[in-house]
Amino acid sequence: MTGAGIFAGACASCHGKSGSGLANERAGIVGAHALSDPRGSNLIRVILNGSSDSSKAPGRTMPGFANIYSDAEIAVLANYMIGQFGGKKGNVTAKDVERARE
Ligand code: HEC
Repeated sequence: MTGAGIFAGACASCHGKSGSGLANERAGIVGAHALSDPRGSNLIRVILNGSSDSSKAPGRTMPGFANIYSDAEIAVLANYMIGQFGGKKGNVTAKDVERARE
């Protein structure tokens, strides 16, 4: 599966095809700090574990995808995200994802 395919299927419903954020303003991810790191350390964790702001309000949390995608799929997705929304070339590997799993 391609990174674009995974994003369209699993992420675009909340983040929008352009990454601008449909669920709420917090879901806008263009230029997010997590996406400007080519090694994607924070990004991998967000994809694996999800994220929520302190208010825990409905629509403000992101589910984790650790049990849904393989290490290789998450690596492909992370590199797609960094390239598409962070403007850099990602070099996340499946090994990096494996190491970030808890
Ligand atoms: C159910 C809605 C939903 C889905 C599905 C979803 N997200 Fe999110 N995502 C959010 C919300 C809401 C936030 C902001 C959370 C916060 O405020 O901590 C967020 C935050 C993020 C961030 C920014 C984290 C940061 O702190 O910089 C990234 C990157 C991200 N999501 C990537 C993804 C990817 C990749 C997928 C698909 C695998 C995905 N999201 C699927 C709702 C979603």
